[in-house]
Amino acid sequence: MRVIKVELGERSYPIYIGGGLLGLLGDKCAKIFEPQNCVVITDSNVGRLYGKQAIENLSAAGFSPFLITLPAGESTKSLRNVEYCYNHIAQKRIERRSFVVALGGGVIGDLAGFVAATYMRGIGFVQVPTTLLAQVDSSVGGKVGINLKYGKNLVGSFYQPNLVLCDIDTLNTLPERELRAGLSEVIKYAVIYDSAMFNRLEKDIEKLLNNEPKTVASVIARCCQIKAEVVAADEKESGLRAILNFGHTIGHALEAITNYKKLLHGEAVAIGQVAAAMIGAMVCNFNETDVQRIKQLIKRTGLPMCYKLDEASQKKLIEAMRLDKKASGGEAKFVLPTKIGTVKFGQKVPVEIIEKVINDIS
Ligand SMILES: NC(=O)c1ccc[n+]([C@@H]2O[C@H](COP(=O)([O-])OP(=O)(O)OC[C@H]3O[C@@H](n4cnc5c(N)ncnc54)[C@H](O)[C@@H]3O)[C@@H](O)[C@H]2O)c1
Ligand SMILES: [Zn+2]
Repeated sequence: MRVIKVELGERSYPIYIGGGLLGLLGDKCAKIFEPQNCVVITDSNVGRLYGKQAIENLSAAGFSPFLITLPAGESTKSLRNVEYCYNHIAQKRIERRSFVVALGGGVIGDLAGFVAATYMRGIGFVQVPTTLLAQVDSSVGGKVGINLKYGKNLVGSFYQPNLVLCDIDTLNTLPERELRAGLSEVIKYAVIYDSAMFNRLEKDIEKLLNNEPKTVASVIARCCQIKAEVVAADEKESGLRAILNFGHTIGHALEAITNYKKLLHGEAVAIGQVAAAMIGAMVCNFNETDVQRIKQLIKRTGLPMCYKLDEASQKKLIEAMRLDKKASGGEAKFVLPTKIGTVKFGQKVPVEIIEKVINDIS
């Protein structure tokens, strides 16, 4: 088992990474919380696979857990479901010192975290991420929230968990497309922060695609460490944390114009990373060979590098970038690589260059 610490003063917390960790859920929680009622929030897919084990394990450690199972899918991240959870939790007399366990992917982590952040102005929160994306990204860093019909993640908060348990065995049941989408974020960490990790991914990508436990655990640990370092330096995204948005400016816009139906987040971000690498080559001397290395790695991971868009859709994409909540003054900001392992954030890019690159990836 590996342990990464997120250093945030009195809100610091450990991330445990390894196989069989779901079997330690009760013990780990018992080190932090008194025996009492608690709640596990999950979705229908994950609940069917791991709900019983989580409940039994918490019971064996002296807790009286109850399970809330929500439908699987992005539309679950709604205020309606938050209210549904509040009412269940209140009915079960969950108290101020109790806790919520998020058992699932990023959808459940974001929603359960928002419930934990706001119920009685904040109760305990434990993340048990079960997708690769959630293990390397959404379960770490404290962003929690839900969607409105006007946009994704428009309501939320920063609320750090007390504990993150990444059981890599849960990845064995994850659909392959979801695994590849998670690897897109893994590639992102290497490009923004760690050239040695990029070399390693070039060597080990097949092992990751085959879920080889040692490689998977060490790569997840490195990603969590990078995210932990970035978050510790800039918890509320006033600067450095923006580097985590590499590939996301165009990625988010692609998701938006395809109504979140055609591409998984990681797939859209893969295309966004290719585009950002190409823009980097045009505006900040990013080496053409390195553009090719990024493309090659994304291709070997089985992720898309382009998306067919007609002229009207290309215009819509540029408009969606301007409307993104991370744009300021109607202007998209980019995270651009200067070399593999180093990026600059907050970069403005001339519209002609954006248009050219969008045309190239279409
Ligand atoms: N808070 C953050 O910092 C942050 C960062 C990135 C993404 N996110 C959010 O995360 C969400 C996406 O997360 P996601 O990609 O994990 O999607 P998800 O939670 O929808 O999970 C993807 C699918 O996999 C299923 N699943 C999960 N674990 C499984 C397992 N072990 N075995 C079998 N099936 C399993 C789920 O039921 C679902 O159908 C988005 O809402 C996004 O906004 C948040
Ligand atoms: Zn992302």
